[in-house]
Amino acid sequence: MSARIVYGGEGIRDSVELLRQGGVVGLPTETVYGLAGNAFDPMAIARIFEAKGRPISDPLIVHIPEVGWLERVVHFSSEEQRDLVERLGANFWPGPLTLLLPRRPELPDLVTAGSEFVAVRVTAHPLFQEVLRGIGSPLAAPSANRFGRISPTSARDVKLELSESIDLILDGGCCEHGLESTIVALRKGKLEILRPGPITSDQLREYGHVFTPNGIVNTPGSLPGHYAPKKGLHIIDSDIHGFLPRANSGYLAFTTPSPEIRERFSQVEVLSPLGDLREAAANFYGALRRLDNSKSDIIYAIRLPEEGIGLAIMDRLRRASYGSQHLSQSH
Ligand code: TXA
Ligand code: MG
Repeated sequence: MSARIVYGGEGIRDSVELLRQGGVVGLPTETVYGLAGNAFDPMAIARIFEAKGRPISDPLIVHIPEVGWLERVVHFSSEEQRDLVERLGANFWPGPLTLLLPRRPELPDLVTAGSEFVAVRVTAHPLFQEVLRGIGSPLAAPSANRFGRISPTSARDVKLELSESIDLILDGGCCEHGLESTIVALRKGKLEILRPGPITSDQLREYGHVFTPNGIVNTPGSLPGHYAPKKGLHIIDSDIHGFLPRANSGYLAFTTPSPEIRERFSQVEVLSPLGDLREAAANFYGALRRLDNSKSDIIYAIRLPEEGIGLAIMDRLRRASYGSQHLSQSH
């Protein structure tokens, strides 16, 4: 099997038809590409896990096109909870915010890995919205990469990741944010950030006390090692000017490096020439993937400022480098 990339209105029709038959489709979202299946079809959900090679203990995010669909999958536990979700939704949806809410019992157990809570978000991508309305059912979708690997931010990246295990990818161009949604659990009116993302804690603060448990594995899928390239990846904590890499190294730079720094590396990817963290986030996975597919033997990445969305990028970078840090420690 080799996945077919489809476009526009015809692509939407093909996607809807395949999803109706219980198939899975690579779809664009405003964060990263997802691998979608009908949230109420357990066979389709099983196919998602199979295609990604993902353990079934790791639940999936359910996507809807508008807030009005929320109660198809969510059963609010109180009026206060409903109020808070409505206020959050009015500001951040459609968009890159995922909320953990009490699930409806009709949702297949496989979607939530048996949990009483479902992760749900209203996607802002117009093509994903059209597919959702076309099939008329919420869609479960994890990021469209092999389990533990780099998330895809273009249709071509999805093809590189999953070509052998899926047959359709809807091309919606490059992803606006480039990093996965912020995941938030509501704990008695407090907001617990389970995964940092494009919606920052500063933006959430006016809705209640925001906290991020430090160093704890927050969701079943947030393993310390994730988003990993095939090559070794090391974060440069120290000043780049004094850093001498091994021969044939790739460099993931934040801003444009000087010619003197550039020539120490065999390939350089710049996340944002002028140092804009939003732009860096949008380019992050694509740049990491290009370095991974380049001729260099090892990748060095510069530490980014841990403010705003920089926190989410550094979260991904640390997980992406996890296996390499362990290897270098054991040597
Ligand atoms: O931006 C995004 O969120 C992308 C796009 C495709 O929507 N999706 C995404 O899905 O990043 P995935 O599966 O790669 O990451 C979802 C994370 C996993 O760590 C999973 O464990 C957690 O969300 N999660 C999903 N449902 C959950 C639940 N019911 N309870 C706790 N954690 C959950
Ligand atoms: Mg993922």
